[in-house]
Amino acid sequence: MSQITDAIREHHKEIQTKIAETTARATERGTAEDLDAMLRVLREDLMPHARGEEKELYPAIDPLVAAHARPTATMSIDHEHIEAYVKAIGAVVERARSAKDPELAALRSDLHDLIERLRAILDLHTEKEERVYLPLIDTAMPADAQARLLEEIHASAEATKDPTLDVRSLAPARRHGVIFETFGALAEGQGFVLLNDHDPKPLYYQFSAEMPGTFSWEYLERGPDWRVRIARTRKAA
Ligand SMILES: [Fe+2]
Ligand SMILES: [Fe+2]
Repeated sequence: MSQITDAIREHHKEIQTKIAETTARATERGTAEDLDAMLRVLREDLMPHARGEEKELYPAIDPLVAAHARPTATMSIDHEHIEAYVKAIGAVVERARSAKDPELAALRSDLHDLIERLRAILDLHTEKEERVYLPLIDTAMPADAQARLLEEIHASAEATKDPTLDVRSLAPARRHGVIFETFGALAEGQGFVLLNDHDPKPLYYQFSAEMPGTFSWEYLERGPDWRVRIARTRKAA
């Protein structure tokens, strides 16, 4: 790190701290002074920072990115955050299923905040893709390359989808055997979606007893058909 990057990080931290403090006061206490203080930070600290970056920093960084970096690296960081929010939302929903007030009310409020934050990132992310990248495809990518890319996108969307194991037409006595066989063939990180006509809770207990700590269990649909994503989190000892 250098003097300039240290200074930029330092400045970011300073603005973030000021925003956190003044927005907390403005939304919790909310006196006229609190609201003014918040607006001052947004208008007189945050906006000049952003304008300064547009004018001086980004023009200096553009050629560096072109020469040394992956220009879509910033988008991949968005995806990391999107994935983390989806996980966090799933965890809150799981806890909310069995919670009662006042915990339930607190979880609903957490859920609301998480969804708002996810949507803010998602809206921005989608706009970046559509305003910056898609026009490049339209204007700078030959038609045959466009067609190939579309095929590859479809194929990889299919390949990353989990296969479905539909046990509804199997005799009940055979179901667990087939499911354990399917699970047994999974590599670490792989999963499948179990499709069943009732809550496969007994199966969950059997998994927990026979291979604790090696699987994840995630309800995707709860009736009339039941879908559960079962994945291998680590190899059995
Ligand atoms: Fe910045
Ligand atoms: Fe994306």
